[in-house]
Amino acid sequence: MKRIGLLTSGGDCAGLNAALRAVYARAHHGYGWTVVGIRNGTAGLMERPVQAEELDDRALNSDLLRLGGTILGTTNKGNPFKFPMEDGSFVDRSHEVIEGYRMLNLDALIMIGGDGSMAIIRKLAKQGGIPLVSIPKTIDNDIGATETSIGFETAVQAATSALDHLQPTAASHSRVMVLELMGRDAGHISLWAGIAGGADVILIPEIPFSIDSVAHKIREVRRAGRNFALVVVSEAVKTADGTKVHKDYHGGEKRFGGIGDYVAFKIADTTGAETRVTVLGHVQRGSMPSWRDRLIASAFGAHAVDLIAEGKFDRMVAWSDRRVIDVPLQDAIAEYQDVKHSDPLVRTARALGICLGD
Ligand code: F6P
Repeated sequence: MKRIGLLTSGGDCAGLNAALRAVYARAHHGYGWTVVGIRNGTAGLMERPVQAEELDDRALNSDLLRLGGTILGTTNKGNPFKFPMEDGSFVDRSHEVIEGYRMLNLDALIMIGGDGSMAIIRKLAKQGGIPLVSIPKTIDNDIGATETSIGFETAVQAATSALDHLQPTAASHSRVMVLELMGRDAGHISLWAGIAGGADVILIPEIPFSIDSVAHKIREVRRAGRNFALVVVSEAVKTADGTKVHKDYHGGEKRFGGIGDYVAFKIADTTGAETRVTVLGHVQRGSMPSWRDRLIASAFGAHAVDLIAEGKFDRMVAWSDRRVIDVPLQDAIAEYQDVKHSDPLVRTARALGICLGD
C-alpha cells in the first residue's frame, strides 16, 4: 500500500479540482493507496509543521468537478531555489522542501503545474530522489509535448464570452472595443477566442504589429458599412519601440498589464474612432471548468496514478490524438509552445480576414 503526495503549483485555473478528484478516486479506490494533499504547492512543504492532510472520500464529491480554483491552494511565487527574503536577498531553501516531503513518508509525488513549476519541481525531485509524475495545467497553453493543458479551454470560453458581451455595446455606441487577454508570452488564448468571438483584429506577442495595419483594418470595416470593431490584444504584445507593458504591484511584483490602453489610444489617434478597453484578467482563471477541462483533468489524474503503479517516473501525462498519453517530463519543459507562424489557426484567422497586425 502506497502513500502518495499531491500538490498544485503555479497560477490556478479551472479543472484543478477535477484532476485532484480523479487522482484520489484512482489511487484510493483503484489501488487502496493513501493520498496526501499538500497545501499551497512547495510552500506547504517548506512550513513546519508541513502543511498537508490525507484526503478522504469528500474528494470524490462531484461538486469538485464544477469548482474552479484548487482546494489545496497554490502559489506562483517563491521558487525554493531562489526564495525571496524580506530584506530583499534570495536564499536556496530547496533542502527544506525535500525534507518536508520526506517528513510525510511518501512513496511518490504528483504535481499539477505549469512549465515554470515543472522545471522547479523536476529539479527538486532530482536533488531529493523523489519519484515524480506531472500533470500539465495552464490557461496559457504553452507547455510543450501536449496538445492542451487543464484550464486552457475554460479561459478561451471566458474570453469568447467577453467578446459576445462587448459586441452589442460596441455596436450601440459605434465604438472600437479593445479586449486585453492573458497568456504570458504565448498568444493562444487571444488567437482562439478572437476567432471564436469574431474579432476584427487579434494582436499576439509572436507577431509584431504596426498601428497602420490595425488602422487600415478599422477603416476597411467602416467602409464596408459596419459601425464598430472588436480588437483582441494579448497582454505580452509589445509597443512600437519594443517594450512590454507591466503593472507594478506591492512588494516589487510585476505582471503584464496595460497594452490594451496603449493600443486603444493609438487606434483613436490614427482613425478618430472612439475606443474603450476591457482587461479580462483573472476572470479567465476563476471560471467554472468547461466540460472538456473536466474531462481532460479526469483522464490526466487517473493516468498519473497508473504511471506510479507501473513505476514510470519523471514523466508528464499529455493529450494527443484524442487520448491521454505520457511523455518524458524533460520534453515538456524543453519545448516552449508559443504560437508558431505556421500554426493552422494563424492561417484560419487570415482566411477570415482578421488582421493580425502585420
Ligand atoms: O500563467 C498564468 C497567468 O494567468 C498568465 O496568463 C498571467 O500573465 C499570470 O498568470 C498572472 O499572474 P498572477 O495571478 O500572479 O497575477
